[in-house]
Amino acid sequence: MAGYGHIMSPIFEDLGVFLRVGESTDVVTKEMYDFEDKDGKRIALRPELTASVVRAFVQHNPTNLPWKTWYEGPQFRHERPQAGRYRQFSQVGIEVLGSDDPQVDVEVIALGWRFYESLGLREVTLLLNSLGDDSCRPAYFAALEAYLRDHAADLSEMSRETLDKNPLRVLDSKRREDQSIVAEAPLMVDHLTEETAEHFAAVRAGLDVLGISYEISPRLVRGLDYYTRTTFEYASTALENAQNAVGGGGRYDGLAESLGGKPTPGIGFALGVDRILLACDAEEVFPGPTVAPDVFIVDLTGGAEATKLADELRQGGIAVDRGFDARSMRAQMKVADRSAAPYSVLIGEDELAAGMVTVRDMYGDTGQTQVSRTDLLNELTTRLGR
Ligand code: HAM
Repeated sequence: MAGYGHIMSPIFEDLGVFLRVGESTDVVTKEMYDFEDKDGKRIALRPELTASVVRAFVQHNPTNLPWKTWYEGPQFRHERPQAGRYRQFSQVGIEVLGSDDPQVDVEVIALGWRFYESLGLREVTLLLNSLGDDSCRPAYFAALEAYLRDHAADLSEMSRETLDKNPLRVLDSKRREDQSIVAEAPLMVDHLTEETAEHFAAVRAGLDVLGISYEISPRLVRGLDYYTRTTFEYASTALENAQNAVGGGGRYDGLAESLGGKPTPGIGFALGVDRILLACDAEEVFPGPTVAPDVFIVDLTGGAEATKLADELRQGGIAVDRGFDARSMRAQMKVADRSAAPYSVLIGEDELAAGMVTVRDMYGDTGQTQVSRTDLLNELTTRLGR
């Protein structure tokens, strides 16, 4: 619908691909399922898909930019399992490589937002931040590090260790003893250079035009190291705080280069399918519709006719289910009812002999009609408004 091609990348890849996600992140240091294969190669089950997609981009070097892709599938992180946090979970996501136009950021963020809306979720908040880029980071990092070092004695031991590896990540700490220090820390949004600030302003203005509301969240760091400039998270207030991110993403303008490619800006998101389903349950808006067939065939002549008829109708574009095991009419009608198909087609001995079938309108008021077998596909296509 928005010009994104499907990409299927491997479930496991060379460990090096995922190290680019960030060697100071929990995702890489603690949560990665990595192992040696029979050739002694270091392999990892993918903890996320952005690095794989960018690896594929660098490898195949597509020329039509921006290159827009979408994906879905399982990811693996060795986390402590609890509600909404699993070791195998599913994501659906998109990535756009080759443009740093802020309108691309707006498109990406809006597509995620509209997806939640289309499911009927109302308790989702969009959190937005800019993490700057190489033009503003050195000055900001110096200010942040100086501040955190000044307060190091009061930080948790974990945060003191994190400070040596990546001061930015300390802002992500959920530990109680760090909170007052983190609350007063210098913020990236106050240290953006003119160009990055303009980019961020254009993203916000684009979202305003679309009527998508957001909260500026200056301490939003995200759990992966590759982010630059626009970063965002979709948080569900219907879920427990610690697992309330139902999706997230951002720009990663340096990732392609760090994977051996030409400098290429990129942005994307991944939405957590498991958490989205939990949010749907919590908001009681389970995504429908259940996939009802168009027609349910009840065959009272043994079942072979239903096999032929179902095949014919399916080739004609009608979704068909049918009864099996030569069960009684009553038993088959019960299954037809449960299938929620709007029409059933009955084949009895007399009808078979006469080349006819009976079409029953299951919910409307047209009742039962005898239709010649050769006209059935036309009749159903018309009734279904195809
Ligand atoms: P992430 O924030 O690590 O980002 O994961 C995205 C979403 O996956 C989270 O918001 C959450 O809904 C879900 N998720 C993460 N870990 C778990 C888990 N253990 N159990 C259940 N759900 C989980 C990324 O993965 C980036 N690749 C997103 C991205 C795409 N950034 C740019 N492009």
